[in-house]
Amino acid sequence: MKMSTISVATWLLGVVALTTINNGVHCQSMLHGSSGKNGGDSSYQQNSLEDSSRSGPYFDKSASKNVTALLGKTTYLNCRVKNLGNKTMTLQVSWIRHRDIHLLTIGQYTYTNDQRFRAIHKAQSEDWTLQIKYPQHRDSGIYECQVSTTPHMSHFVHLNVIEPKTEILGSPDLYIDRGSTINLTCIILQSPEPPAYIFWNHNNAIISYDSTRGGVSVVTEKGESTTSFLLVQEAKPSDSGRYTCNPSNAQPKSITVHVLNEYPAAMQHGGQAKQPRLYSLLLCLCLLLY
Ligand SMILES: *[C@@H]1O[C@H](CO)[C@@H](O)[C@H](O)[C@H]1NC(C)=O
Ligand SMILES: *[C@@H]1O[C@H](CO)[C@@H](O)[C@H](O)[C@H]1NC(C)=O
Ligand SMILES: *[C@@H]1O[C@H](CO)[C@@H](O)[C@H](O)[C@H]1NC(C)=O
Repeated sequence: MKMSTISVATWLLGVVALTTINNGVHCQSMLHGSSGKNGGDSSYQQNSLEDSSRSGPYFDKSASKNVTALLGKTTYLNCRVKNLGNKTMTLQVSWIRHRDIHLLTIGQYTYTNDQRFRAIHKAQSEDWTLQIKYPQHRDSGIYECQVSTTPHMSHFVHLNVIEPKTEILGSPDLYIDRGSTINLTCIILQSPEPPAYIFWNHNNAIISYDSTRGGVSVVTEKGESTTSFLLVQEAKPSDSGRYTCNPSNAQPKSITVHVLNEYPAAMQHGGQAKQPRLYSLLLCLCLLLY
């Protein structure tokens, strides 16, 4: 009885002092006020902990996982707190960036000036989500989800911001005989999800696969890394130039193709070597028909 009167008095003094010191910094006085209140309620907290330790809040770690984000693509760090119960009014869930111990969110409110961060929480939900728009490399690191119990409960989420890399096999230059097939292979590495699309450009114009040129096709293989093959049949000198692979989620990469203005020896002299080439051309055409 005596103790709680003293602690409430201390809390009130604290709030008055903080309000005076911070003079208008609303969020700070509110923050200290609420943690002070928890301190004042500590006898109740201890009792409820003793009643059954299971009744207190706890983190659902399987729903609060580390995150790998794509550079520039909005990402979400989730913190699922079970059993926060109807103490939501006094217990707050906050997100803190460890790099600089920066308080980002409290409850459903965003406290940072960095407009890229936002607190997301739906009423009755157990999820307290930190939205990060346009994630940058410097955003990588540890984020703490904290529940304002006494003492605090913390769960740490590691954010890794990665940038997919684009590679074209054989770049920067490819020399090819006139009449043969240009086969360019573009690989997108380190992409947690495949790019939504991949454009190919020839000398800055987007390659159209139904153009009058004909014989141009693209095969895309999606998997751990995404690969796009650009095939241009029966290369002509006008097919020379700069080819660029433009994935939706990574930097473009280019290769310069030089179509040598002479037919390969096999074509000029005919003979045995001609057959396999014709055969493979026919095969390619059949593949194209599919
Ligand atoms: C998160 O990442 C850190 C650092 O890589 C690792 O130590 C920790 O075990 C990871 N946590 C989970 C839940 O995977
Ligand atoms: C809210 O918490 C109080 C105290 O622990 C408890 O008595 C009450 O039943 C709870 N109400 C609801 C709706 O859970
Ligand atoms: C194109 O080149 C890649 C890599 O060398 C190869 O795997 C693929 O089979 C080739 N495609 C054709 C149609 O020649």
